[in-house]
Amino acid sequence: IVVVLDFGGQYNQLITRRIRELNVYSELLPFSTTAEELKKYNLKGIVFSGGPNSVYGEGAPKVDPAVFELGVPILGICYGMQLMAHHFQAKVERAAVREYGKSMISVASDSALFTEQPQSQQVWMSHSDKVVTVPNGFRVDATTETCPVAAMSDAGRKLYAVQYHLEVNHSEYGNEQLRRFLYDICECSGDWTSASFVEMAIEKIRQQVGDKKVLCALSGGVDSSVAAVLVHRAIGNNLTCMFVDHGLLRKDEAEQVMEMFAGEFKMNVVKIDARDRFLGRLEGVTDPERKRKIIGEEFIRVFEAESKELGHFDFLAQGTLYTDIIESGTATAATIKSHHNVGGLPEDMQFKLVEPLNELFKDEVRAAGTELGIKDEIVWRQPFPGPGLAIRIIGDVTAEKLDILRDADWVVRDEIKRSGLDREIWQYFAVLPDIKSVGVMGDERTYAYTIGIRAVTSRDGMTADWARIPYEVLERLSTRLVNEVGNVNRVVLDITSKPPATIEWE
Ligand code: XMP
Repeated sequence: IVVVLDFGGQYNQLITRRIRELNVYSELLPFSTTAEELKKYNLKGIVFSGGPNSVYGEGAPKVDPAVFELGVPILGICYGMQLMAHHFQAKVERAAVREYGKSMISVASDSALFTEQPQSQQVWMSHSDKVVTVPNGFRVDATTETCPVAAMSDAGRKLYAVQYHLEVNHSEYGNEQLRRFLYDICECSGDWTSASFVEMAIEKIRQQVGDKKVLCALSGGVDSSVAAVLVHRAIGNNLTCMFVDHGLLRKDEAEQVMEMFAGEFKMNVVKIDARDRFLGRLEGVTDPERKRKIIGEEFIRVFEAESKELGHFDFLAQGTLYTDIIESGTATAATIKSHHNVGGLPEDMQFKLVEPLNELFKDEVRAAGTELGIKDEIVWRQPFPGPGLAIRIIGDVTAEKLDILRDADWVVRDEIKRSGLDREIWQYFAVLPDIKSVGVMGDERTYAYTIGIRAVTSRDGMTADWARIPYEVLERLSTRLVNEVGNVNRVVLDITSKPPATIEWE
């Protein structure tokens, strides 16, 4: 393992991810982790991450000095480099010019980090303090016009540091430098894969849970599915999954989930039919935030009541991803929309959490899912919001509108898949605005609903662009939606990006 010590920078989890992409296992640990604690790992190397502080600042995070005595190679990045310099009594000072963005470094030595790379390279800088002189035993490996020490090393003690962020794509050879660090300096063997993640995760779950009982709220989405299958592999039928059908799901979704998990994987899945309860509580409600609140609350009520019926559970398994942690941690994400998750369980339901995916990104979860033998249908499923179709129906939610939207959504999914666009487009779905308009069909006047097509490309759902669907596909979509979905006579296309719009219409 290569441990990344977290000093608070925004790219820190990205460093562990880049390391894992190079087939070396990596975890992000708090900066306060002591040398004693680190000794418990089969440690090949340590990375000090970036961070917002100045080493001279009050309360600046420090590293346990004994970490330098472990004899393990260390790579300092940005704040990590300043920390290393400061520890060895070199001079760090506030730069007159803040360096931010692209910058050219000039590689000045044959440091192992820069083996077989161009002498001049583009890097991504983001710092205001800088190292002015290198500590004893170190030498300067790279410079920029304004930064006398852009990289430094002490090969004897296997200490390396760079001022720039080698983990971001804008640093041209950053990945190559990381690879050199892992393979040439730390001598990692590079056998980390999603198969080893699965194995390790299973072992971890067994250790955490022992022979206790675990409950999991299965939604059929990628994350909860992969989490549930992992936990099932680890503890078998000590896992009970609860699948709540709130009636806001897509066509045939409930059946598919049951077939897959109870049928194929032989898991213990209890399906709760709560369709009438949800529809009843949503009657006449038009405000999007209220819809979300009602659905969230009702979900918790159902979950609470039904889990009591199922017996006693010590643990709750959730498919929380690393990105969920960042999003719920930022103040802005919370104010844009209250995303509903099982996170808000009442306090008197005291579960310990099992979150086997909380260090992974979506694509890593997909890889793990495939490794576990979960079908592409589920692994490559597009994101689907917890409140389901309710937030794609503008205005009040009725059984009739749900039926129309379910059929329309199915046509959109089917046509996009047939056109081979399903992996390119991040999300593609139908929306039912509260509009009826006049049309003519078979010489007769009609007065029927409009369907909106929403399709976006995105990397993480935080920002998005409208997908450029070819006209021929749009034409087929329009024809099919009007012909195959009852009570629809008009189709429109949403061509706004996020921001200023959001992906969902509510
Ligand atoms: P927006 O509409 O905010 O969506 O641009 C961003 C991503 O989040 C999904 N989404 C939700 N997911 N509960 C969820 O679990 C919600 O209330 C919710 N609202 C939006 C949306 O589908 C997109 O992927």
